[in-house]
Amino acid sequence: MKGTVQYEVVDGVALLRIDNPPVNPLSAGVRTGIYESIDKLEADDTVIAAVLTGKGRFFIAGADISEFGGKIQGPGLPEVLRKLEFCSKPVVAAINGGALGGGLETALCCNYRIASSKAFVGLPEVDLGILPGAGGTQRLPRLTGPAEALKIMISGRHVSASKAFSLGIVDQISDNLLEDAIAFAKEKAKMTDQHPMVRNFNDKILEARQSDQVFQEARAFAAQKRTGQFAPEKIIQCVEAAVHIEDFDEGLQKERAYFTECFVHPQRTAMIHIFFGTRAAAKIADVPKDTPIRKIQKAGVIGSGTMGGGIAMCFANVGIPVHIIDQNEENLQQGLSVIESNYDQMVKRGRLKPAQKEQVFGLISSGLDYSALADADIIIEAVYENLDLKKKIFSQLDAVAKAGAILASNTSALDLDAIAAATNRPESVVGTHFFSPANIMRLLEIVRGKESSHETMATAMALGKKLKKVPVVSLNAPGFIGNRMLAGYTTQANMLVLEGALPHQVDQALEKFGMRMGPFRMMDLVGLDLGWRARKLAGQSTPIYAKISHELCEQGRFGQKNGKGYYNYEQGSRAPKPAPENEALYQQVSAEHGFARRIISDTEIVERCILSLVNIGADILAEGVGQRASDLDVVYINGYGFPIWRGGPMHHANTIGLANVVSKLKEYRQLTGDNSFTPSKLLVKLAKEDSKLE
Ligand code: 3HC
Repeated sequence: MKGTVQYEVVDGVALLRIDNPPVNPLSAGVRTGIYESIDKLEADDTVIAAVLTGKGRFFIAGADISEFGGKIQGPGLPEVLRKLEFCSKPVVAAINGGALGGGLETALCCNYRIASSKAFVGLPEVDLGILPGAGGTQRLPRLTGPAEALKIMISGRHVSASKAFSLGIVDQISDNLLEDAIAFAKEKAKMTDQHPMVRNFNDKILEARQSDQVFQEARAFAAQKRTGQFAPEKIIQCVEAAVHIEDFDEGLQKERAYFTECFVHPQRTAMIHIFFGTRAAAKIADVPKDTPIRKIQKAGVIGSGTMGGGIAMCFANVGIPVHIIDQNEENLQQGLSVIESNYDQMVKRGRLKPAQKEQVFGLISSGLDYSALADADIIIEAVYENLDLKKKIFSQLDAVAKAGAILASNTSALDLDAIAAATNRPESVVGTHFFSPANIMRLLEIVRGKESSHETMATAMALGKKLKKVPVVSLNAPGFIGNRMLAGYTTQANMLVLEGALPHQVDQALEKFGMRMGPFRMMDLVGLDLGWRARKLAGQSTPIYAKISHELCEQGRFGQKNGKGYYNYEQGSRAPKPAPENEALYQQVSAEHGFARRIISDTEIVERCILSLVNIGADILAEGVGQRASDLDVVYINGYGFPIWRGGPMHHANTIGLANVVSKLKEYRQLTGDNSFTPSKLLVKLAKEDSKLE
């Protein structure tokens, strides 16, 4: 059984230390250890109290997620927590680090809670498609009141020790944790034999019976932050039970029943797939775990435009000084003023204190001279997409950067190996493809060049994590992972409009499926004129799928930037309004290119767009450009607004069955004559084997 609990008696107090590295989940060995330790201390007359703590940086990170769906060994968590809660001697939780999910629920079954100032607590089960199922929904509202408890459970956020103290979740903060907890336990044991149990705290519950407003607010919050998710409503129902049911144990039973509903729901499988997928994505199969990682203490960024500025903010936000270079003072001043106004916005919204802004913004310096980057550990180039320009910059950087410094390109489209060849250190060149806005979007594609060394790759992945991004590796291939898949998706969206759908119908169908933003709203946001201008500049003809967008641009409809594109926008607003004046143009372009417009169902819209993602994704896997199917899912969820509760496009394909995927693709090839629907060889093979994308 995984994990143990070390038992030691210190000065008449049993000290129980959970030992299950790296994060102390409640695996079978830990549950058994707690259970048996309680028996042991109950039987020992010399022990008057107990302290429960964790070894390492976590108290307990929750139930062991890897055990979910398997056969349960040892006692179940509810049984263990009941034993702990009804221990006849006082138990103090000494929360030394993170206490999450079942970890906080364990602490809530102790009589007292003392936390170190570095500790944090939370009930993040919602991120896994479940709810706190070991009493958290019944106990937390008794301490904080239902409104705060609902916010914590629906957001899944971590709560700092000081905040937890102010909310009444912990009784004390101490930086001399174990010593203080032992002394406190002894004192309480000597003082009384009536120790508090959270189940008996009813004041905040009785108060909440007066009005249902807190539940209405929670439902509005869930609808906004957790659209389409099943668990949040069940969490709310659990808290309603906590408030309205007199008998605590009956409330616990309700929680169990709702927990089971979440547990068997497909969203749970999808979201846990993403939990493990995100962690798997951070690993590169052939790069050993012990590969040395270079220290990144100073960064450089070339280019102070939208991307460069956002990337610089990512470094400053985690305390790494960063120097930005641009070709003239005017660009630099413009770039810096955008960065500063982003920070000002954060201060305005209360996400940053003014002093913190000064400190973070103070980490960003700028200049025109490359020699200022001589001591940088990594330099990220973020200029516009022009191979010759990038090669020139890399050759200049190679000359000034110190030995061992990593040179990275933010290119989203160009050949990284060609860029690396302009240097004498191709082994230290890597792609770091950030997504716009770079300071906000979590996805970071780490592009592996032919010669990128293990050390460079390991360092780039570790840096991604340090910058609070979700790094995913792609080989150096056109479009890498995300944009290559996106091309198939947007092509289908465009073709559907040529064939008879309207942009808002396509958007609504895909948003109903769960996409954060429909493709036409997205295209309006990015700007329709980008492709149009690029093609004009290169003297290229317009591909069939872009004919409508081309005509819109010819009419001066560029998207949100000038208030009209596929939709209309009122000044200063990003809300799309219908643009019926475009419909004649859609009909005209369809007719010109031989399309007899027809009524298209929402099902066809969703299937054609989503299965295009899947089909291209399968090619990406077959070519080895992406390491695993879950990497592609992680890319789509973190970079392209795919609903997490569907587990990403590849998981979605596995869920509907690959034989169905292949037959649908063939059906659409037949209907449209479009060969891009020819099923990927990998899909055909896996469907035949009744297997899955992995
Ligand atoms: N169970 C099993 N394994 C876990 C785990 C858990 N609860 N939490 C983390 N791990 C594993 C990770 O998979 C990873 O394994 P790997 O090294 O083999 O990839 C390892 O621990 C380290 O995790 P991270 O790489 O994520 O480390 P970080 O330091 O970045 O983050 C963390 C640590 C904040 C604990 C993060 O892992 C996390 O958020 N974990 C999930 C916490 C959670 O959701 N708890 C609730 C569980 S459900 C529950 O308790 C149900 C109950 O209500 C009945």
